[in-house]
Amino acid sequence: MRLLGKHIVLGVTGSIAAYKAAYLLRGLVKEGAEVQVVMTPAAKEFITPVTMSALSGKPVASEFFSANDGTWHSHVDMGQWADLMLIAPATAATLGKMARGICDNLLITTYLSSKSAVMIAPAMDLDMFRHPANLANLAILRSYGNLIIEPGEGALASGLHGKGRMEEPENIIEEVIKFFGQKKKLLNKHFLVTAGPTYEKIDPVRFIGNYSSGKMGYAIADQLAESGAKVTLVSGPVNIKAGRSEITVIPVESANEMYEQCLRVFPETDGAVMCAAVADFTPEDYSGSKIKRGEDDLTIHLKPTSDIAGTLGQVKSEKQLLVGFALETNDELVNAYSKLKRKGLDFIVLNSMNDSGAGFGVDTNKITMIDKDNNQSVFELKSKTEVAADIVARIISEIEHKSGS
Ligand code: CTP
Repeated sequence: MRLLGKHIVLGVTGSIAAYKAAYLLRGLVKEGAEVQVVMTPAAKEFITPVTMSALSGKPVASEFFSANDGTWHSHVDMGQWADLMLIAPATAATLGKMARGICDNLLITTYLSSKSAVMIAPAMDLDMFRHPANLANLAILRSYGNLIIEPGEGALASGLHGKGRMEEPENIIEEVIKFFGQKKKLLNKHFLVTAGPTYEKIDPVRFIGNYSSGKMGYAIADQLAESGAKVTLVSGPVNIKAGRSEITVIPVESANEMYEQCLRVFPETDGAVMCAAVADFTPEDYSGSKIKRGEDDLTIHLKPTSDIAGTLGQVKSEKQLLVGFALETNDELVNAYSKLKRKGLDFIVLNSMNDSGAGFGVDTNKITMIDKDNNQSVFELKSKTEVAADIVARIISEIEHKSGS
């Protein structure tokens, strides 16, 4: 059961090879995957939805609406549910629509809504396959990050011989297993992640806080867990939840509580990602009763908090990785690099307040990663989930480097 618990959307299109999708489906289910089949209208001419729903144990999705009861089939829900979308067989027409975003059926809308990786197994006649239009579409799909399972050479349904035949189901299943295996590069690793704001209490009803939503830190914790790591997430007060069993959340409120928890957990980890927006100052005195309005100005004395990342930078071993964040408003690159040096970080992720779509509250981020040698990698504006995937990909390569593999 090498695919236990995996959610796969299997898209089937109108090709003679559609009958092989039944074998493919059976193999995926046998490996423990939960599969939701989506068929194009043409696919149903080649294989019946009854076969596919019997093999998957779920109704096949095909139309936007169910004519009987008016139920709306949400392509967005399917796209979010999937850990992988696999389109097999994929006809030339479907490849063209996917490349250009022509959403005239449920399969293409699901593809466009999908947050997961997408694997495509083309199936068509050899002349269609090698036509420049089809090759251009495949190049576009590759550039979107889709994984293409190259068709094999052999006898084609047309009677011709050549490249275009859908890869055999058992080989596609091996590709799927390999795909999920590759994602587990942090198996047996343990990471500490900090996220969210801190609240520094002034009196029982007031605090000093900041606008951090915690989304970036939670997305990183998710991606680390997705790659097989165990994660301890020390989180300030946020309105989001960590969904995965590999993530243990330690809720804290103040910078000092976060400091204590991080120092306790860090020695047993392989590294830490410091994503929290920690208060730099905290009230010197806490008033046990609510501060009353008066005629005079109110002065609250603040004292500096401990630098958590900086402290971990001093105690970290050679094998441990320390990643920090910098949110800057001016002289971004210079400030971020000096922060990396000051805190003993392995690399720092810079987001500039000057980039629209980056920073607090929003769902997107635009980052630059800077390493100890001041090498800078600039990334496009992306969703926080995609940014987290980029950061975790870098963490994986740094960890592999540290362990000499
Ligand atoms: N950080 C931390 N503990 C603190 C302050 C910051 O661990 N008390 C971490 C943040 O989580 C982040 C990095 O240090 O990974 C940089 O945070 P930032 O607020 O930009 O740095 P400061 O050291 O506070 O510098 P300044 O606010 O003066 O720019």
